[in-house]
Amino acid sequence: MDKELYAAALAVRQQAYAPYSKFNVGAAVRTADNNIYVGCNVENASYGLTCCAERNAIYAAIAAGEKKFKALCVVAATVEPVAPCGACRQVMSEFGINELFLANCNGKVIRKTLEELLPYSFSSDNLKKL
Ligand code: THU
Repeated sequence: MDKELYAAALAVRQQAYAPYSKFNVGAAVRTADNNIYVGCNVENASYGLTCCAERNAIYAAIAAGEKKFKALCVVAATVEPVAPCGACRQVMSEFGINELFLANCNGKVIRKTLEELLPYSFSSDNLKKL
């Protein structure tokens, strides 16, 4: 378990903009160089424009020029550790983020691999045509 990554995800959860769902989420990614980037969920009155904490953390890292990742931690005030949505799993796949720490605010954490959460995923390999 990556305590520093968990602490970063828990802290940024306070910044969540979730007036519609009231479901605040924080996420943090650790890069190969051990830098940490954070993100929270950001909702919109046009609900479909909402972006999850995980994708916002990953996109912040990408915008900072990062390309290689080690792990991601996501935190919400759930009974059981929060499970990332399908769209975020696909984005994690794009950037090879395989080690995942799914957590709640009480410190309950489970470790999963992306392979476990998104088997047989669509990737750039699948774009090869006949
Ligand atoms: N949400 C996340 O940010 N990450 C997750 O892993 C699950 C869902 C957000 C999207 C929306 O703002 C709210 O939680 C309720 O779905």
